[in-house]
Amino acid sequence: MRVSGETKIAGIMGWPVAHSRSPQLHGYWLEKYGIDGLVVPLAVSPDRLEAAVRGLPALGFRGSNVTIPHKETVATYMDRLSDVAQQVGAVNTIVVEDEGTLTGTNTDIFGFMAHLKASAPGWQPARPAVVLGAGGAARAVIAALLTDGVREIRLLNRTRERAEMLAAHFGDAAVTVRDWDDRAAALSDASLLVNATSLGMTGKAPLDLNLDRLAPGTVVYDLVYSPLKTALLLAAEERGAVPVDGLGMLLHQARPAFQAWFGPDPVVDDGLRDHLVRDLGLSA
Ligand SMILES: NC(=O)c1ccc[n+]([C@@H]2O[C@H](COP(=O)([O-])OP(=O)(O)OC[C@H]3O[C@@H](n4cnc5c(N)ncnc54)[C@H](OP(=O)(O)O)[C@@H]3O)[C@@H](O)[C@H]2O)c1
Repeated sequence: MRVSGETKIAGIMGWPVAHSRSPQLHGYWLEKYGIDGLVVPLAVSPDRLEAAVRGLPALGFRGSNVTIPHKETVATYMDRLSDVAQQVGAVNTIVVEDEGTLTGTNTDIFGFMAHLKASAPGWQPARPAVVLGAGGAARAVIAALLTDGVREIRLLNRTRERAEMLAAHFGDAAVTVRDWDDRAAALSDASLLVNATSLGMTGKAPLDLNLDRLAPGTVVYDLVYSPLKTALLLAAEERGAVPVDGLGMLLHQARPAFQAWFGPDPVVDDGLRDHLVRDLGLSA
């Protein structure tokens, strides 16, 4: 890595921030495209978030990624929010515009859908989708599915009230809430199942889900990417479903930020996947 007087710099703000793989991810593309650029981790405490964000244009930053716990608060410091950031109610990418103003956007919706289309090109939004979870990830998933015209989204969460609040946020009749205990039955006729809970992640409880009603050919998308091949994906594959792992979403969601800060729309290729698998120490 070489830093010159011309180096284009972007950041990743979080508290803590050391776990973020944004510098490595963007670093791969910067090298691949021969761009004199850098993405640096910025450990920003909540009480200094506003000062840090407002300092980006003065420091000549192109922008910054934003991670936990700042994604909601940072939206209030933006000069403008993209439609998707408003839809999701969270900002994960800041772009410093040429005149020094700040635009906040959210690239999770793009990342979720781009990876779905790349991994399961035959998937059609006509049949119901089942979404497990009602946190920030589920919010992005539902926004993406509604944008793509999915007519029925069955939303199930351990804490039903959170699912109801999320459905109310969208106010769309396509989103229907069911009891967490009915998750096996909810799979009937579905063409897509998305796990947007943290269940199945290394160190967390497993996802207890009977797949008897899962039809062959159903797309099963697990947002959990550690391990890469979760128990859900392995069981779904055995039943003839199309498995889609969570790592691809992480990679694709970085594309719009890279393009806005550095120019090219970067390609998610095997080299990038391998780079991140190694960097994250992921196992299959
Ligand atoms: N691949 C990607 O790019 C990507 C992007 C974002 C997130 N993710 C992953 O998606 C997952 C969710 O992230 P998030 O930000 O939405 O987290 P979050 O806001 O903390 O939500 C966690 C969800 O998991 C549910 N949950 C947790 N423990 C449970 C249990 N024992 N039984 C049943 N449900 C349980 C929660 O249900 P309650 O509401 O009942 O607590 C909630 O719906 C994480 O694994 C995260 O790593 C991946």
